[in-house]
Amino acid sequence: MKIAEDKNYKKLSAFWKENGLEIEVLEEMPEEVLKAWSITDEDGRLIAAAAVEYRDSAFVIADLAVDPEFRGQNHAKALMKLAEQAILDAGGRDAWLVGKVPGFYTKLGWKIRGREEAPDISKCLTCQDFQVSCHPRIMHKEIAAVHSLET
Ligand SMILES: CC(C)(COP(=O)(O)OP(=O)(O)OC[C@H]1O[C@@H](n2cnc3c(N)ncnc32)[C@H](O)[C@@H]1OP(=O)(O)O)[C@@H](O)C(=O)NCCC(=O)NCCS
Repeated sequence: MKIAEDKNYKKLSAFWKENGLEIEVLEEMPEEVLKAWSITDEDGRLIAAAAVEYRDSAFVIADLAVDPEFRGQNHAKALMKLAEQAILDAGGRDAWLVGKVPGFYTKLGWKIRGREEAPDISKCLTCQDFQVSCHPRIMHKEIAAVHSLET
């Protein structure tokens, strides 16, 4: 397995879409995407990917997905660690995300927050279906505080 920064946005966005994320497949990396990473297997097959975005003066972890065949092997956890470190390296202290699987993120120290508390990070913030027919959670983490406790 190889984990590395990946700039091939067309390939990444197609992968995220195939794995159930609401994303448009684009040739070029949108300007709000600061960095993206992928994990590939020995044959170069893409098996997991994630990105960090900067929106409304906030860092956002976006588009995390793992190929169903390779779930439960800590690949998502490894990508989250890289993404959080990249936010710290870019001078961020905290981050936001829209979590479809809150239980995964709470294990990593993320907390559920009200959507009225969040910066403008997602169309969920104004969507009428939010918590009506669609149930993601707005989540936040004080990354700097958690990382300083770990070291
Ligand atoms: C959510 C997802 C990224 C998890 O990927 P994964 O590679 O299986 O996760 P990991 O193996 O790194 O799991 C790390 C930990 O989270 C836990 N976990 C994984 N999925 C979970 C879930 N859906 N709910 C609660 N905990 C979960 C694991 O049990 C593991 O716990 P442990 O450290 O105590 O053993 C993957 O299921 C996926 O791609 N889903 C479809 C796309 C999606 O919903 N992405 C999130 C958008 S917000």
